[in-house]
Parts: sequence; structure tokens; C-alpha cells
Amino acid sequence: MTTVRVIASDTVSIETDALVVGFHTSPDGPQVAPGADDLDQAFGGTLATALGAVGFSGKPEEIAKIPTLGALPAPLVLAVGLGERPADGYPTETLRRAAGAAARALTGTASAVLALPASTAEEAEAVALGALLGAYDFTRYRTGERKDPVAELSVLTRAEGAEAAVERASTVAEAVALVRDLVNMPPSDLWPAKFADIAEDTATKAGLSVEVLDETALKEGGYGGITGVGQGSVNPPRLVRLAYSHPDASRTVAFVGKGITFDSGGLSLKPANAMDWMKSDMGGAGAVLGALIAVARLGLPVNAVGYLCLAENMPSGTAMRPSDVLHTFSGKTVEVLNTDAEGRLVLVDGIARAAQDGPDLIVDVATLTGAQIVALGWRTSGVMANDDALRDEVVEVAVAQGEAAWGMPLPEELRKGLDSPVADIANLNPDRWGAMLAAGIFLREFVPDGVRWAHIDMAGPSFNKAEPYGYTPKGGTGAITRTLVALAERYAGDSGHTAD
Ligand code: BES
Ligand code: MN
Ligand code: ZN
Repeated sequence: MTTVRVIASDTVSIETDALVVGFHTSPDGPQVAPGADDLDQAFGGTLATALGAVGFSGKPEEIAKIPTLGALPAPLVLAVGLGERPADGYPTETLRRAAGAAARALTGTASAVLALPASTAEEAEAVALGALLGAYDFTRYRTGERKDPVAELSVLTRAEGAEAAVERASTVAEAVALVRDLVNMPPSDLWPAKFADIAEDTATKAGLSVEVLDETALKEGGYGGITGVGQGSVNPPRLVRLAYSHPDASRTVAFVGKGITFDSGGLSLKPANAMDWMKSDMGGAGAVLGALIAVARLGLPVNAVGYLCLAENMPSGTAMRPSDVLHTFSGKTVEVLNTDAEGRLVLVDGIARAAQDGPDLIVDVATLTGAQIVALGWRTSGVMANDDALRDEVVEVAVAQGEAAWGMPLPEELRKGLDSPVADIANLNPDRWGAMLAAGIFLREFVPDGVRWAHIDMAGPSFNKAEPYGYTPKGGTGAITRTLVALAERYAGDSGHTAD
């Protein structure tokens, strides 16, 4: 794991393997960004001209390496593009992405100093977080020679509060790395009970209390959604409850994650090409686990509960069939029309259970529908809620973390399509249009009256099938983990609410 610290020295004298410097685009070619002025002076102010000469422009995430040829103790300057110079203040996502791209280019380097714009604690945190997230790799299944991510990072800043801000970045980055690891693990090594063990182990170490319901407890407890989905697998399902409380807390947030360790579709089997990355179908549960761990490590003055709804969706002689009726934890019955619409079945048990904790809000996170990807693409999550203000709040919090999200409606007319001739509701709308929204409508039916609930569909964002960009690697991204931490922060303490 890469480490990060703060240093407040001048760049020129620093002993390190690489100095990371930011550049802006301009009509006159690249220009050195704030944070590295004295370094530029060590080269007589020629850095930008030299970079321009090798075709570097300073566009976002562009990378160039310049040997210092003895002019500085550090042997290498790593230039990274920041795009156009902002009028005032840096958007944090610009800094995170630049730092992340730089960190990826530093693979195989022992140490680096980030001389990027960081004149405020918020900017320093963004630089640290982007670099730590970019330095992630997943190599535990590789044999033979390989280069490790940069081991030691230092953020150059004199901003007040930078130490604490960079510490927060480190806590959050560690949580995101755990989520990415879980998503990247092959399903042969991550089945529900194993996920529950890892959750119990990591969460207990962070000071959370953990309760695990096994298949027997789930059956006795009436969790028919989770047991229904899990019954086709030789690896039985689990429900993990994580809880964190703080003496100064005045509010409780509840997070519920879809944790399908592998989604074959079940008897409504997926075609082969749709199954190839379905190990990532537990990304929601991963995000909930990672967020709860970070909340506990940060010691936020809020109460938080997390539910991981864990099952493996497999076809077999014991699998649930299309036409089966499940008795869910809420008391409502569901007719299963398609066993591949399994995420909503495990989630409604988690949501109904979470409501019993009397939370101020419930947020569920799920790789729920292919329709999310059709509507919003790979990088933007869809956010739905039973309260428009809450929906907009979740979107705002996500976007502020650099996690693209967009508010989506829950159109009333879609409810009729979920009517079942035999049970209270069907798990599938036979009309396939608007399937992300229909899934949201289904979930909403299981939220008790008066409970504020939001749903984040991150089917696309949880797994990056394309090339790495910014601080996002190939494979598991850890998406929405940071959004949940930020939501918990928002509900921490008394800010914005008067006690009554
Ligand atoms: N896990 C999938 C959704 C998914 C698709 C996640 C692609 C990530 C990438 C989910 O369980 C599923 O199979 N959904 C079906 C629902 C349909 C049967 C109503 C879908 O979206 O096709
Ligand atoms: Mn499915
Ligand atoms: Zn699924």
C-alpha cells in the first residue's frame, strides 16, 4: 500500500525519485501551474518551453517525463496536464485526476513528491486522494516479475489543515482499495460466506460491530428474497449487518448493498458475453463495507448501519424458478418472472431490515440494471428516491466527490407493469423500456411509509472494462464508496439541523 505524507519545503532541494509538476494549456503553449515555481526557476524558467518542444500541451492527464540531468537532487520531473487554468480555485476532480494519472505513470518508482497546486487543505486532500487511488494495483494472482506502484508519496503544501486532510484521503483510499480488491477477486475465491468473513474481519478491526446471518438464520428470520436468490448455489447466502455509533451523533444513516458474488442469471441464464464480468455484481455491498470502515476510522459523529445482501445467483436443481413466489422480510410476496432480476430480491430484504433501525435515510447501492448503462453510459450512476430533495442531495454529494451521477425519475405509470396475477408484486416489468426506473419502482414498494430512501444504480461505474483513466484503474473501481462516506459526513453532528 502506498503511503502519503505532507511536506512544506521548497521543491528544489528535495531528495526523491520524481517530482510531479502540473501544467496548464495556453495559447502560448504549456505553462507551469502553481506549486512548482521555484522548481521552474532551477531550470531558468525553461520547463514549459522544453515541454512544448516535445509536443506536450498540458491537456488534462497528459504525461511527460523530463530527466533533470543533475540540475536537481531528484533525477526526474514528471509533468502532468491540468488543462486550462481556472479563474479561481481548482476543481477538486481536476486535481484528483491529474494526481491519479501521475501516480499511474510512476509505477516502478520508489518515491515521488507531488508539487501540484495545493494551496488549500481541500486541494491537498484531492491531490493525495487522486494519487493514492491512481497508485492502486491488483497483482495477487500474477506470478513472475512485475513493477510495484509508487511506494512513498509526499504532497507539497503549506495549507493550514493539510495534515488532517491528507490523513482523511489516506483512510478513504484504503477503503476504496478494499472495495476494488473485493470486486476484482475471482468468484471462486469470493463466495457469500467468504465475503462475510472478510467483512467481519476488516470491519471488526475498524471498531464496527458485526452481525452475520447464515442461511439457517436467514430462513428463520423470513428473509425470503435473499434465501430465494441464494438457494441455487452450493455457496449459501449471508446477510451482514455492520454498525457504528458515536456518542455525539444526532442522526442515523443506513446503507444497503447488493452483494451478488456472481450473477449467472440463474435459470434465466445470461448469454456468455453478458456473464464475463458478473463477478463485479457485489460492488454495492463492497461500497457499503468500505464506506462503513472509513466512517468508523474517521470517527464521524453520526450513527451508521450497513447491510451487505450476499448471495450467488446460480442455475441448478435447487435454484428458484421463474413463477416461484418468495416471501420477503417486509411481509410482501414477490412472483419471480425472471431469475436474472435477482438484485432487487436481495435488496428489498436489506432495505426492509434497515428500516427497523429507524434511520434518517436509507441509501441502497447496486449494480442493478443493464438499462442504467443504456441510459447513462459506463461512468454515470443513476440516482432515484422517494423524495426529490434527497435524490438531488445524493447527486450533489456524489458529483462533489468526482463520482458522476444523475437524478432519474420514478414514473408512476411503470408500477402497473409490475402487477402479478398471483403475488403482491412481480420482479420484472414485461415491458422492457425504462428498466432502470422500473427496478427503482420495485424497490420503493418495500420502503415503509415515512422513511426517506434513495437508490443508486451503478451497474456501469462499478467496473471499468476500458483502459485506466485519471485515478480509475481497469476492473473494480470502488465506485460510490466515497459518495457514501461524504453522505455520512453530511449527516454527522448537528450541522444544518436544529435539535428538537
Ligand atoms: N447484475 C445485473 C445488471 C448488470 C448488467 C450489472 C450489466 C452490470 C452490468 C442484474 O442482475 C441483471 O441481470 N439485470 C437484468 C434485469 C432484467 C432481467 C429485468 C438486466 O438489466 O438485464
Ligand atoms: Mn441478474
Ligand atoms: Zn445482478
